[in-house]
Amino acid sequence: MRKNFGAKTYLYPMPVLIIASYDENGVVDAMNAAWGGISEENQISMCLSPEHKTVKNILNTKAFTISVADANHVKECDYFGVVSANNVKDKFEKSGLSQSKSQFVNAPIINELMMTLECELIRYNEETCIMTGKIINVSADEKVLTNGKIDPAKLKAICFDPVNNAYLVLGEKVGRAFFDGLSLR
Ligand SMILES: Cc1cc2nc3c(=O)[nH]c(=O)nc-3n(C[C@H](O)[C@H](O)[C@H](O)COP(=O)(O)O)c2cc1C
Repeated sequence: MRKNFGAKTYLYPMPVLIIASYDENGVVDAMNAAWGGISEENQISMCLSPEHKTVKNILNTKAFTISVADANHVKECDYFGVVSANNVKDKFEKSGLSQSKSQFVNAPIINELMMTLECELIRYNEETCIMTGKIINVSADEKVLTNGKIDPAKLKAICFDPVNNAYLVLGEKVGRAFFDGLSLR
């Protein structure tokens, strides 16, 4: 027996993307987004409501970064999703996190989050809320590398659980991609 839940926005895994931007005065903002993912070669798309300060910032600067939320910063990453810089001018400062300007795009990198996509805005459609960015660079702190590669066990990325409104940690390897299925051919 299966239970039907209807037309819900339920999916596993859903990412926890922390989108960081500068406002017109260089003040940093960051928001949490679960509706997004890689959409084309070198591109990432998210569904972002136009009223967010983040969206206004990005339409102005044409750039943003997306950091992967991790288990060491759950509180801060959730905070980015429940408070708006439209109302709280020092939203980012209150998180206690720090930032450095990206070498590649006009957007901040959150120093404490270990892996970041640095992006330029390609397009935003206010009706569909879809924002698409070109990935210019991916950077990761050396602390989460093993043999020069990003190590998910060290990164401890979290994903959003839309059914239970929770964050879950990722990292356990259960298979080899493009390989384990070959034995069934
Ligand atoms: C777990 C979680 C996921 C979220 N996903 C999205 C999303 O995919 N799209 C969106 O527009 N808002 C999403 N939000 C809401 C924004 O993060 C929130 O409105 C935030 O305050 C916007 O900040 P800003 O106005 O400073 O840019 C999410 C919030 C949480 C807590």
